[in-house]
Amino acid sequence: MRALAVFREQQDVRVIDVAEPPAPTGRQALLRVLEVGICGTDREIAAFEYGDPPTGSDYLILGHEAVAEVLETGPDVTELRVGDLVVPTVRRPCPDSGCRTCRIGRQDFCTTGAFTERGIKHAHGYLTELVVEDEQNLVAVPPQLTDVATLIEPLSIAAKAAEQAQAIQQRLPWQPDKARTLVLGAGPIGMLGAIAMTVTRFDTVVYSREPADSPRADKVRELGAVYVSTEQTPIEKINSVIGAIDVIYEAVGVPTVAFTATQALAPNGLLILTGIPALNEPATLPIDRIMKDIVLNNQAIVGTVNAGRSAFELAVQKLEQAMYLIPHSVRSIITNRVPLDAGPEVLKQPHGVKDVLRING
Ligand code: BGC
Repeated sequence: MRALAVFREQQDVRVIDVAEPPAPTGRQALLRVLEVGICGTDREIAAFEYGDPPTGSDYLILGHEAVAEVLETGPDVTELRVGDLVVPTVRRPCPDSGCRTCRIGRQDFCTTGAFTERGIKHAHGYLTELVVEDEQNLVAVPPQLTDVATLIEPLSIAAKAAEQAQAIQQRLPWQPDKARTLVLGAGPIGMLGAIAMTVTRFDTVVYSREPADSPRADKVRELGAVYVSTEQTPIEKINSVIGAIDVIYEAVGVPTVAFTATQALAPNGLLILTGIPALNEPATLPIDRIMKDIVLNNQAIVGTVNAGRSAFELAVQKLEQAMYLIPHSVRSIITNRVPLDAGPEVLKQPHGVKDVLRING
């Protein structure tokens, strides 16, 4: 069967032939992969800047934003049936018996760093025809979400952020009934974050570099959010244009933008960081002013990496809600669907918001 592999030593990305997986045993399910989305992490791996193959392999099969169909179940599978649609989670626990978070299935909070990630770190991914996966790593998806289910993994980043925000804001002596949110960046993570926020009926502003009359800005406005372009409003001026914000959801991976945006943060507000920045030369920031404001306003900053099973389940719910309310907007996130063979090309050059590779079906 075919798979899309990255050979770091040879600096090559190509479709290769690999052996089919063995029949599922125990709680495993054999899956037919339908589609896999491509994200910035995949592009970095394909540019040989990130990622690690499994120990002993000279290549890594890419892909972690997958949707698949159950073809066969092992004898101890209880939750899934043949024909079910599933989305796999990405991170697998580290082997350290002292890592409490991994031992309770919350490897997204792993304390040793020895976790693996399918398609990213020491484990093959889903850009192949068939895979075997334990049912505890599979989240069932209603069939009506088939054509948008590759968005569940990137949406689970916003879902985990929402879980974290809720937990952190328990610190407040009262519970606010609504929030104003600012999304930094209108890439796939930002757009999906904006979808999650607008379907939760949060008053949402999206700030990004695309011009205010661009198709991307139109997509934002279709969600019912406000769009502000860096072209009109430099980040230093953001608070005078949009007013006070309760939660900033950062999805650009640019530290100067993220930390300068804190000046728009309301008292007791929260900055959630999801972007993984490239490590550049040190940048200049008014860090004394930023720290002073954070302290005097009881603000909080949290980083979040994707994602536990509960965040995937919440992402399924949010996607269902969004497909009920704004199906056109959700579908318009997927701007390019091409066969596996086009993978190496698509990894070099994004086409719109989200590229998806079709494997089967
Ligand atoms: C994936 C996460 C992963 C992160 C860092 C992201 O693209 O969605 O699951 O933890 O990359 O490897």
